[in-house]
Amino acid sequence: MVRKYTILHGIFEEKYIIDILKKEIVKTRDGSNTLFVPEFDETYHSTHGAIQESLHVFIRSGLKFKTELNDINVLEVGFGTGLNALLSFIDSEETNRNIKYTSLEAYPLKWDLLSKLNYIDLIFNGKYSAIYKKMHTCHWESFYVLSPYFKLRKQNIKLQNILFDNEFDVVYFDAFAPRVQPELWTEQIFTSMYKALKPGGVLVTYCAKGSVKRALRYVGFELQSIPGPPGKREMSRAIKPQ
Ligand SMILES: C[S@@+](CC[C@H](N)C(=O)[O-])C[C@H]1O[C@@H](n2cnc3c(N)ncnc32)[C@H](O)[C@@H]1O
Repeated sequence: MVRKYTILHGIFEEKYIIDILKKEIVKTRDGSNTLFVPEFDETYHSTHGAIQESLHVFIRSGLKFKTELNDINVLEVGFGTGLNALLSFIDSEETNRNIKYTSLEAYPLKWDLLSKLNYIDLIFNGKYSAIYKKMHTCHWESFYVLSPYFKLRKQNIKLQNILFDNEFDVVYFDAFAPRVQPELWTEQIFTSMYKALKPGGVLVTYCAKGSVKRALRYVGFELQSIPGPPGKREMSRAIKPQ
């Protein structure tokens, strides 16, 4: 089926229709679930620990890197299971910082599947179960007020089609790996991420591949290779100069 589509349309980017691919719930090493896409041989998070990865790469190395800000605008590439959004929400509750969280997702997942993931049980024993459900069932395209500190805007759009200018303090770049979606790790895409960030803004990603780091540098970012989450020596933090 997938191959037929490829031949008919002949567009590399649409070689895989992520929407219709099978997704299996698997357990990662910290006990938290992720989704496995057999067609890609790829998971939505690190198999060394989904929650640990998200906390390390996006929350500690991205959100908490901008401690000087009380109002913070976050852009996430790939809403997926909403794990990064949930952990950011919890951080806003703990720090009393205001977060405006925009998340791009070309292929939204169904609540039927998401409700079977174990994040809610593992994080504060179910305390955030209503919030997590709301994150997935609330409207798309405009901000939804989840709490006095946290506003969520999900956008059902492809990363290739967005145009933001000087809006964000932090970008969580959480696309599938370059092996799977090379078209999302290009100079062109990073130029649009650079434009989307305010001066001093920061992009974080789990990826530390040489070609990705070179592309980030090429478009103007100052690159920091910092220790990665469990199972990964390095990750990347790219800063837009002031
Ligand atoms: C590695 S997973 C992200 C995991 C997510 N941040 C989470 O916490 O579950 C990559 C996500 O990017 C989405 N995606 C793939 N291609 C995309 C595109 N062209 N534009 C926007 N999102 C895309 C996928 O559907 C998937 O949800």
